[in-house]
Amino acid sequence: MMTVSHQRGRFITLEGGEGAGKTTAIQLLVQQLKEQGQDVVVTREPGGIRIAEQIRSIILNPDHTEMDARTEALLYAAARRQHLVEKVIPALERGAIVLCDRFVDSSLAYQGYARGLGMDAVWEINRFAIHDTMPDLTFWLDIDPEAGLARIEANGLREINRLDKEALAFHVSVREGYTQLAEQNKERIVRIDASQSLDYIVEQMLNILRERTQDFS
Ligand code: TYD
Repeated sequence: MMTVSHQRGRFITLEGGEGAGKTTAIQLLVQQLKEQGQDVVVTREPGGIRIAEQIRSIILNPDHTEMDARTEALLYAAARRQHLVEKVIPALERGAIVLCDRFVDSSLAYQGYARGLGMDAVWEINRFAIHDTMPDLTFWLDIDPEAGLARIEANGLREINRLDKEALAFHVSVREGYTQLAEQNKERIVRIDASQSLDYIVEQMLNILRERTQDFS
């Protein structure tokens, strides 16, 4: 089977628990990179394109209480596949920087670790889905789950999804999952303390990007 030819762009993902401020951080980061004249594509999982957005709405529908954990993991992997093929890979091939809000580490931490499906099992289905396209760099915005959930509550405008309603214990477990992943992928995953100010978080991300590559002035 053919593997994906190696792309010229950079694939950067953001990971973290709820309320870590990923979405805002990504927006600020993009602004900075665009000011530097970079070709940047911002996207998110689950979603980013038509088919994946539809899969997202099935997964995150609060009425779907009967959803089996393996079904959920397969749906995330399916959405991931379509999103990669339609959006991420073409952008990387033309040399863009792709910033993606969540990727395979979310499935490993949430479904594999916290839901108890096992990281190895979840990796297997994702290996099939991603077919060798892994991020060049992953920022893990790490926050204490209690502080993260308190931020979400304070921000009443944010959509409340089924996963937000899960117990604190689940989020503690997600954090443990990310901790393991960061230990196993020291080169790729960089932990950022997300209790710091947003400006400082973005500055750190830019510094790391600069260190890692010549492309970021
Ligand atoms: P979203 O509203 O995008 O949350 P956030 O702003 O925290 O990223 O909802 C995405 C939810 O889906 C979030 O709770 C994490 C979860 N998720 C998984 O469980 N597995 C996955 O593979 C992905 C991509 C997301």
